[in-house]
Amino acid sequence: MFKFNFDVEDDGEQGIGSLGENSTTQNRGPASAQTVVPDAFTELSLVNALDSLPSKISYSPITIPLASGGELSLPRRDLFDARFQLISQNADDPDASEQPSVVNARSALQFLDAPSDLVPLVYEGGLKTWECSLDLASYLDSISSQFDVRGKRVLEIGCGTSIPSLYILHRIFSSPPSQNQTHIHLQDYNASVLELVTIPNIILTWYLSEAAETYRKSEEEQTDSASLELNMSDNLKDTFHQSLITYGVHLRFFSGSWDTFDLRKLGGSYNLVLTSETIYCMESLPSLAAVMRGACNAEGPTDTYQYLCLVAAKVLYFGVGGGVAEFVRCVRDLDTGGTVETVWEKTQGVERRVMSVRWN
Ligand SMILES: C[S@@+](CC[C@H](N)C(=O)[O-])C[C@H]1O[C@@H](n2cnc3c(N)ncnc32)[C@H](O)[C@@H]1O
Repeated sequence: MFKFNFDVEDDGEQGIGSLGENSTTQNRGPASAQTVVPDAFTELSLVNALDSLPSKISYSPITIPLASGGELSLPRRDLFDARFQLISQNADDPDASEQPSVVNARSALQFLDAPSDLVPLVYEGGLKTWECSLDLASYLDSISSQFDVRGKRVLEIGCGTSIPSLYILHRIFSSPPSQNQTHIHLQDYNASVLELVTIPNIILTWYLSEAAETYRKSEEEQTDSASLELNMSDNLKDTFHQSLITYGVHLRFFSGSWDTFDLRKLGGSYNLVLTSETIYCMESLPSLAAVMRGACNAEGPTDTYQYLCLVAAKVLYFGVGGGVAEFVRCVRDLDTGGTVETVWEKTQGVERRVMSVRWN
């Protein structure tokens, strides 16, 4: 049985969100009981987020075991590096203590230092990678020959370190450029998660891909190839933006609670809707399901692969209430409802699933 573990550090090897059987589990009671005003829907600028990063960011590989038997390594910004950034943002401008960016930095620092993986409606766990996100990336790999993501509209809900989207971007940047325009929208509760890990992970994924080979070679003399650090030069950012155009990739980033998620501002429905480790909270399940349903334009034709709506999760989130059974019930009971089919599962140890949702 899975419990959110608020005592355990990262597992050390992969920096996976804390898990554990025997840990002390803080339920959502005390924080939920307070009147917390959820963060509102906001769009973040990619350019500003890249400009706010320090001159170097450090990273480590995370390994995704693939269903095919192989494995894929993707880069992820180190959490300690994000922490240094926050500390220096605080120190650089002590007078600006009430500016939103400084307030955000201060509270993000609390999340990084807190012995807790979740503070309901304050910080929802996105700084760390949760293991079902690897399952979802692996599942996407297993269907990649039937589902070409290029030219599609993709939404990752509750993305955090965004491993499934990184997998998609890795594929796009490892294939020849195509005329197809691919829209990838990423949502997280916390703007600071998008700024500190999601966006850095995306530029890192590009940097290590075939799309950036020429850039990497041009930088080789100035870079210590053994160090896992990326120089955030203007040249790097310009080349990245140029590559996005060449590969037809359009990225947008949204923060805020699902209650406030405004699909009308996002340019239409999606062909691929992804989410992992987001069904743990009973209270937010209806708003999560409503975002998913709206994003899939459930009124439209429902041919196979008109849309794919995939949810990766543990079967049971003990101590916080949610899980697969509650999610299935919530989907069934929502407006006209929908059905959930398990497309991949792990039944040993902590049970995990990837599910496909079809909306009625
Ligand atoms: C446990 S983390 C999982 C992160 C990532 N998907 C993974 O698997 O590594 C849960 C994610 O859901 C998002 N989330 C949780 N509750 C939310 C809510 N009520 N509104 C918006 N986002 C929420 C958080 O931003 C967070 O990134």
